[in-house]
Amino acid sequence: MASSLKSSKELVVFLGKSMIAFLESLIFTIIPKPRKNVAGEIVLITGAGSGLGRLLALRFARLGSVLVLWDINKEGNEETCRMVREAGATRVYAYTCDCSQRENIYRVAEQVKKEVGDVSILINNAGVVTGKNFLDCPDELIEKALDVNFKAHLWTYKSFLPAMIANEHGHLVCISSSAGLVGINKLADYCASKFAAFGFAESVFMETIVQKLKGIKTTIVCPFFIKTGMFEGCSTARPFLLPLLEPEYVADKIVDGILTDKVYLNVPKFISFVLFLKSILPVKMAVLTADYMGAFNVMDSFVGKNKKN
Ligand SMILES: NC(=O)c1ccc[n+]([C@@H]2O[C@H](COP(=O)([O-])OP(=O)(O)OC[C@H]3O[C@@H](n4cnc5c(N)ncnc54)[C@H](O)[C@@H]3O)[C@@H](O)[C@H]2O)c1
Repeated sequence: MASSLKSSKELVVFLGKSMIAFLESLIFTIIPKPRKNVAGEIVLITGAGSGLGRLLALRFARLGSVLVLWDINKEGNEETCRMVREAGATRVYAYTCDCSQRENIYRVAEQVKKEVGDVSILINNAGVVTGKNFLDCPDELIEKALDVNFKAHLWTYKSFLPAMIANEHGHLVCISSSAGLVGINKLADYCASKFAAFGFAESVFMETIVQKLKGIKTTIVCPFFIKTGMFEGCSTARPFLLPLLEPEYVADKIVDGILTDKVYLNVPKFISFVLFLKSILPVKMAVLTADYMGAFNVMDSFVGKNKKN
C-alpha cells in the first residue's frame, strides 16, 4: 500500500515536471530566449586556425570574451589571432597544439591554466576527415580521425571540467556532425568518431544532471555539410531539403545555441526529421530514402585537404 502510494506520488511529480518542461520549451519557441553575457568568459576553441573555429573566434571576440585559440596549424592560428584582435578582442592567446596527442593536450592545457586562467567555455571543434571506403582507409588516418575528432574531447574535458565544477560555471561545446547521427557512405571512420563525440558529450551531460552539478551547460552541434573546404568537392543531391551550408550561417547558429544554453543543435533543423525517419522507417525504406537524399554519392567528388595533419 505504502509503495503504491509512493509510486503514484512519483508519477504525479514526473508528469507535473514534464508538463512544466514542455510548457517552458513551448514558450521559448514563441518568445526568444534571453542570451547570456559572455563578456570576460575564457573561451577555448580547438581547430581555431580556419573554417568554423576561426568564425566562432571572431564572434566571441565581438562579444567581449577572452580567447584561447588552439590549432596544429601555427600559421592559420596566428592569422585567426590577428583577425580576432582586429575584431576588438583585447585578450587573445594562441597555442600550437596537436589535439591527436593526449600528452600534448595535457601540457598545453596546463600552460593555459597558468597563463590565462580557468577556461569557462570549451569548444571542441578541431576535426579531420579521411573520406574513403573503409577498407581503403590507411590505419594511421583512421586513428587520427578518432584521436582528433573524438579522443581529444576526453582529454580536454579532463583538463578543464574540474575547474568548471569547482567554480559552478562552465559550458562544454561539442562540434559533432550530422555524420554523428546517421552513417554516411565513405565516412565510416569519420562517422564513428562523430558518433563517439556525440555519445561522450551526451553522457557527461547526463552525469551533470544526475550529480546535480550546478552551472555546467552542454551544447552538442550536428551540422550538415558546410562550405569550409573540409569536404571540398562534395555536393548535395537535394539542395532544397539539405543545402550545403554557409559557414557564417552555421557559426551564427552555434553562437546563438551557446548563448541560449541549447543542448542539441541540428543545423539545419531538417536533420532532426532525417533522424526521426531513421528511427521509424523499415530498413529498406530508410536505405531508399538515404539514396534519394544523396547520402550514397555525396562523397564521390570529395577532394581531401587534411593530408598535412
Ligand atoms: N565542413 C563540414 O562540412 C562539417 C560538417 C559538420 C561538422 N563539421 C565539423 O566542424 C569542425 C570544424 O570543421 P571545419 O569545417 O571548420 O574544417 P576545417 O578543416 O576548416 O577546420 C578544422 C581545423 O582543425 C584543425 N586541426 C586538424 N587536426 C588538428 C590537430 N591534430 N590538432 C589541432 N587542430 C587540428 C585544422 O588545422 C583546422 O584549422 C570539425 O570538427 C568538423 O568535423 C564540419
